[in-house]
Amino acid sequence: MYLGLDFGTSSVKGIVMDGQQKIVAVASAPLKVSRPFPGWSEQNPEDWWKAATVVVKALAKPEPKAVAAIEGIGLSGQQHGATLLDASGKVLRPCILWNDARSFAECNDILAREPRALEITGNIPLAGYTSPKLIWVKKHEPRVFDNVAKVLLPKDYIRYRMTGTFGSDMSDSAGTYWLDVAKRQWSDAMLAAADMRRDQMPELFEGTDDTGRLTPAVAKAWGMPKRPVVAGGGGDNAAAACGLGAVTNGEAFFSLGTSGVMFVSNDRFSPNAGKAVHAFCHSIPNAWHQMGVILSATASIEWLAGVLKTPAPKLTAALGKNVTGPSSALFLPYLSGERTPVADAQIRGLMMGLGHETDAKVMTHAVLDAIAFAFRDCLEALEAGGSSIKRVMAVGGGTKSELWLKIVSTVLGIPIDLPAAGEVGGAFGAARLGMIAATKGDYRQICTKPKIAKTITPEKSASAAYADAYGRYTQIYPAIKDIKRT
Ligand code: XUL
Repeated sequence: MYLGLDFGTSSVKGIVMDGQQKIVAVASAPLKVSRPFPGWSEQNPEDWWKAATVVVKALAKPEPKAVAAIEGIGLSGQQHGATLLDASGKVLRPCILWNDARSFAECNDILAREPRALEITGNIPLAGYTSPKLIWVKKHEPRVFDNVAKVLLPKDYIRYRMTGTFGSDMSDSAGTYWLDVAKRQWSDAMLAAADMRRDQMPELFEGTDDTGRLTPAVAKAWGMPKRPVVAGGGGDNAAAACGLGAVTNGEAFFSLGTSGVMFVSNDRFSPNAGKAVHAFCHSIPNAWHQMGVILSATASIEWLAGVLKTPAPKLTAALGKNVTGPSSALFLPYLSGERTPVADAQIRGLMMGLGHETDAKVMTHAVLDAIAFAFRDCLEALEAGGSSIKRVMAVGGGTKSELWLKIVSTVLGIPIDLPAAGEVGGAFGAARLGMIAATKGDYRQICTKPKIAKTITPEKSASAAYADAYGRYTQIYPAIKDIKRT
């Protein structure tokens, strides 16, 4: 038996699977985000640990024998968060999360101090990454900074509690902005740019490596007498890719959730920092991945649903099922700034082309189109970085709308494969990584692709009109970016 634990932002999810990868039990426990000031986003690491314990107990309740038979555990989780520990392993302050925007200015400090930053990391610094958060702590909480003995990513703090190992995997570590991503090792130059040292970093492992066994105390508390090995695991998207079998060159998926991600697996390091492509290590050895990130994907339709006081499914249902062409309005979905392709934390969205005829349907349609255009921006940025994407799998809550998928397929000009219902997320990928670490199995045989329930293809009759609308969409940001908010 194998366990995957995914430390998301809003919940911890766990799945237990057997040696044939049949899911035996699934459980989750909610997490809260604290926002003490505008733009801040924090969590208490102790809450992750408590939630992990709740999840393990919830899995064991119906399946005590399966849990007692667990031999390998994989960890997946939200990336980038800065968990700061002192020399005794005590947490120094709440974890500053990936979606915390406070360290925006510190990104420029990094570039000023290390002009080769883009070359070494293959990425542009973003406020979400770990390094600028530490520069912020040094400036604003110097006493905390002076006591930092280790910086751990969220899932790696749990690894420490589970095994006593200070360790991380390559995919998650790539999101710190301290890794030489091509070489898969810490970069002394990037650490120095944030006044950090190598001894403050965890040991690096591949996602498939064995990083240690559960301590006897945790094994007893969790009812796992075999003291399972804990795999390196992965950042949530890289782990999800393992769950979806996106582990060979050019295999791609997009996630249409609160935020949107376009992910492709690469057999070599393929950066495109200019377009804010996230070029990270994969959680399997000798592989990398590229990712385009849209900050407000289903969050955009949820925003409109709030404004119009109508649930999002009702808004989209009113558009029917057929793609006839783009909306007469254009929407820019930058409600909380944007990562790919503009890397602009201060820009905000707009709706344009409004006329007396504009109604809820036109605006809903514009929002669905905009997310499709944003995915096209991501696809183009990944391809300009050297990837070639011929088809793509789709996951996430937004995939319930077939109309939306059809619009995305039409705008991207490629087919979209919808996996059959079942486990495909980070927890499942993590369980697979746990299985590889425990059995020394081959990832190509274990990280296979799911059954495809349905393939959505472009609506040819609307392709030309959508190409034209996309062309107009791409002109919006350059035209408005200098009109700053006060
Ligand atoms: C990736 C990213 C998010 C977080 C939370 O760069 O910021 O995917 O990992 O899901």
